[in-house]
Amino acid sequence: MVIGLALGLAMGISSNFSLTFVHAHILLVGWATMAIAGMIYVVVPDCARSRLGTLHVWGHNLGLPVMIASLAMKESGQAKMEPLIGAGSTLVLVSLLLFAINLWRNGGLNHLRATDRNEE
Ligand code: HEM
Ligand code: HEM
Repeated sequence: MVIGLALGLAMGISSNFSLTFVHAHILLVGWATMAIAGMIYVVVPDCARSRLGTLHVWGHNLGLPVMIASLAMKESGQAKMEPLIGAGSTLVLVSLLLFAINLWRNGGLNHLRATDRNEE
């Protein structure tokens, strides 16, 4: 989060917006999505204990730096970064797919529905 915010500030100060995508995805995939997933793991501990949860967290945290760093390098003029961008993005996508399967299989959705009923 701090890195994404600092980059946003640097972009604003320098009026150079070539890294807007990098800024947006550090904050949205690296901070917002990760924070929401973390809160869901606290609310639904069965999902946190599942092997799928472990795979999601590792995939997300390894894939995103690769995706972000290779994209930033490409935007800064380094050629031939596409395969790394593709590999990092695919790892992030697959890990979030595992997160969704985890919620489906380990009661995350039931839990949210039960919480709704309790509030009524
Ligand atoms: C210190 C705080 C922040 C600063 C200084 C900042 C700065 C910027 C700048 C300069 C741009 C480029 C605008 C342009 O191209 O015209 C931008 C775009 C963007 N920022 Fe930030 N930002 C900040 C916080 C955040 C946060 C917290 C998020 C999300 C959690 C965020 C998400 C985005 C997104 C999605 C875009 C792309 C918007 C688009 O494509 O139109 N930013 N930001
Ligand atoms: C595997 C993960 C992801 C990939 C590969 C991806 C890819 C992309 C691409 C190719 C663009 C268009 C960039 C451009 O036109 O310059 C884009 C824009 C955008 N994406 Fe994603 N995205 C991912 C995840 C997400 C997530 C999880 C969110 C929100 C939580 C998000 C929010 C946005 C926003 C707000 C924009 C417009 C910001 C901008 O102008 O740079 N993305 N994304």
